Amino acid sequence: MSIVILGIESSCDDTSAAVIEDGLLLSNLICNQQIHKEYGGVVPELASRAHQANIIPVVDRALKLASKTPNDITAVAFTKGPGLLGSLLVGSSFAKGFALAQKIPLIEVNHLQGHILSHFIRTEISSQFPKFPFLCLLVSGGHTQLVVVRDYLNMEIIGKTIDDAAGEAFDKCAKLMGMDYPGGPIVDKLAKMGNPEAFQFAKPLPKGLDFSFSGLKTSFLYFLRDKIRDDSSFIENRKDDLCASLQRTIVDILINKLILASTQTGINEITLAGGVAANSELRNTLNRTGEQLGWNVYVPEFKFTTDNAAMIAIAGYYKFLKGDFAEHDTVPMARLPF
Ligand code: KG4
Ligand code: ZN
Repeated sequence: MSIVILGIESSCDDTSAAVIEDGLLLSNLICNQQIHKEYGGVVPELASRAHQANIIPVVDRALKLASKTPNDITAVAFTKGPGLLGSLLVGSSFAKGFALAQKIPLIEVNHLQGHILSHFIRTEISSQFPKFPFLCLLVSGGHTQLVVVRDYLNMEIIGKTIDDAAGEAFDKCAKLMGMDYPGGPIVDKLAKMGNPEAFQFAKPLPKGLDFSFSGLKTSFLYFLRDKIRDDSSFIENRKDDLCASLQRTIVDILINKLILASTQTGINEITLAGGVAANSELRNTLNRTGEQLGWNVYVPEFKFTTDNAAMIAIAGYYKFLKGDFAEHDTVPMARLPF
């Protein structure tokens, strides 16, 4: 009999449900919450209310798209954390109710492990999967980590940010330029028309494999403040160059540490995951660096980089194979190491 996993992701501002059968993706629905745009960032209380309104229609649609009914589901996997507590509560409560009603196992998934395991989601076009052990540069709105992945559920963080995450650096600097939230994709788009060498910003490189981005944000802020004093339309006139230079700095910081991690661990099997993995400059630079250094580089499909339930369902699938089930008194956690 096949193993059909329903995945639920609700850690931040996207309500998502996916169905995976024996590792093959059947459906993956993501409902973005537009309400936060007005506030320039995610408002936690509004996010959990929107999750409550969205979760049942999203799951219903994901099941229909997969041509499955609740009775076909073998187990339900949900995001336990890290994330916004109110948002996580909606997904975990729904998953518990679903598991109880269907009398099926409940599986809890660490959101970050989900991002890393997104490489193993099988679709009609996926062909190659990373081989263990591999290195993962996990870059999202809340996290920036270097992870050694020894097996599906055996991972070790060997470097992480000591302050802001890479996605936060994109979003906060974009906000300083007056852009909507999230700014990362907007910076990516505008940077294509700019000169990446136009401006120099601070490039903090703490010792070892850790990252730091808050100094870059501060240096960007002071730079803009000085320029605007002389020319109030500076940002408007130089937006493309600002975006290209900012993006190059962030990508340089990330790639620099990734090279160090590969040298230190001797691992040449390199993967990218998390929302910032959608960044075109990061993807291109990683591919170029990989060619130069003889790495095998794996970059996930765009739709699996930002938050999605397919990654939670695939992680749930591997946990199911291990018989790693959750009790119904499990609670979501805003902070959750793995
Ligand atoms: O993984 P994700 O969807 O959510 C978290 O778990 O945080 O990542 C969201 C982050 C945001 O900071 C967003 O600006 C960034 O990913 N992002 C990008 C791009 N697409 C999304 N950053 C740079 N370039 C992009 N194309
Ligand atoms: Zn995420």
